[in-house]
Amino acid sequence: MQGLSEPWHLLRKGRANKKVKIFIDTANIEEIRQMNKLGIIDGVTTNPTLISKEKGDFKSIIKEITEIVDGPISAEVISLDAEGMVDEARPLSRIHKNINIKIPLTQEGLKAVKILSRERIKTNVTLCFSASQALLAAKAGATFISPFIGRLDDISQNGMDLVRDIKEIYKNYSFKTEIIVASVRHPLHVLEAAKIGADIATVPYKVLTQLLKHPLTDIGIERFLNDWKKVEGRS
Ligand code: E4P
Repeated sequence: MQGLSEPWHLLRKGRANKKVKIFIDTANIEEIRQMNKLGIIDGVTTNPTLISKEKGDFKSIIKEITEIVDGPISAEVISLDAEGMVDEARPLSRIHKNINIKIPLTQEGLKAVKILSRERIKTNVTLCFSASQALLAAKAGATFISPFIGRLDDISQNGMDLVRDIKEIYKNYSFKTEIIVASVRHPLHVLEAAKIGADIATVPYKVLTQLLKHPLTDIGIERFLNDWKKVEGRS
């Protein structure tokens, strides 16, 4: 229950000084613009699949995102060898100071993370499916670790258990690597991440709208507006 002892409500009481961070998990400029206007977006994660859904070239999309959101923006490499990853990472990181490089959690990936961390290029180690992988990523110098919760749930493994384990391990050794709860599929994933006290949840546009919406809010507004018509009828 250790992880459940540091929920978001402690922030208001000043007992935890951690900022709640929500990233948007998309490369769609319109979705990013819309959600950024709400003041709830602290960063953006993309991946090759998300980029493939959009028009335009990779670097232009990433650059445009950096002009909208003032926070960490993940851009993923596609090389499988460390040298190739580093070669892709360097020019990507020069697009904007907020860019971090998404590196897959492989042997070659960790080699690349070590090199990039020495060059002070931030990394988001992705496709993490076990606590042992997360431990090694932190040791290699990852800035962020992205456990893929939804994809674990898909194979009948509780994704949130992985987040709890990583949090405990990182806490034990004061690793600075921040946990990004990724592969979020529904609002409960975000709420669970918050209860556990994960640093960040990266959330698709659809799930952000689901988090926001409540039918009783809509019904309440409708009722207030109808009642207000009676007030207006008085004058
Ligand atoms: C974010 O960093 C991940 O790439 C993304 O959350 C993966 O989500 P998916 O499992 O729904 O593709």
